[in-house]
Amino acid sequence: MKIPDKGDVRVYENLDELSRAAANDFVIRSNSAIQKNGKCCVALSGGNTPKSLFQVLSVPKPDGVLDQIDWQRIHLFWGDERYVSKSSSTSNFRMTQEYLLLKVPIPKENVHPIPTKDPDPEVSAANYEDLLKDEFGIAEGELPIFDVIYLGLGPDGHTASLFSGTKVVQSYCDGTENAARLVASAWVEEFKMYRITLTPSVINNAWCVQFLISGADKSETLKEVIKGAYRPDKFPAQLINPTQGELIWYLDKQAAQALDLP
Ligand code: 6PG
Repeated sequence: MKIPDKGDVRVYENLDELSRAAANDFVIRSNSAIQKNGKCCVALSGGNTPKSLFQVLSVPKPDGVLDQIDWQRIHLFWGDERYVSKSSSTSNFRMTQEYLLLKVPIPKENVHPIPTKDPDPEVSAANYEDLLKDEFGIAEGELPIFDVIYLGLGPDGHTASLFSGTKVVQSYCDGTENAARLVASAWVEEFKMYRITLTPSVINNAWCVQFLISGADKSETLKEVIKGAYRPDKFPAQLINPTQGELIWYLDKQAAQALDLP
């Protein structure tokens, strides 16, 4: 169902069905992007929810769509990363490697992890920004256009690594953001760690932004994000509002239960 200014809300029985629907969408969307541009550029989210999508993407018919995707022309990036080594159990890259990268025939040079080696997270953020400019062939001041950006939602209203109370979120709330900035680093007190994240400017410039949200623990937050007052300082996911592309919410019934959809 379409909610004005809030996108296309799609509700499924459970995470498996949600993930299958999102995977089928990815087949169509990626093949269309490849037909148009010769490649499909995707930014993945981290956490646990994407694991179910990755499982559908990494097995062939009838259980998945592995063989319907032109992996040679898929380019994978990340929407955010924890500032840990790639081998850390909390690394989004490692999770993706385990659930997807080791199971699909994507060329190594098409996989663009967020660097987390430099002692200074700001340096890594700048390095990822340079990688994006290079991969998308854009100049300073221009924004990359991802074909698809996947996002999750935290129970606290964060998305990617846009957390309430961080400088990058604050700057987008008080209008002091550097809209040309593609990537930011942020200290997240809640987790006592740095994170690297795409900025709202980049996310909102995508052709399609898809939230994949599952579980009752997200339902009240989701209701605030979609139906509540605009308070992005408290609910940074409200900063996501694509300027030219689609916004699709893939929800399971549990996550959608507080939306009171008809
Ligand atoms: C991360 C994610 C983050 C995630 C939400 C939801 O690095 O953790 O990018 O934004 O999408 O926290 O996480 P779950 O899918 O585990 O609920």
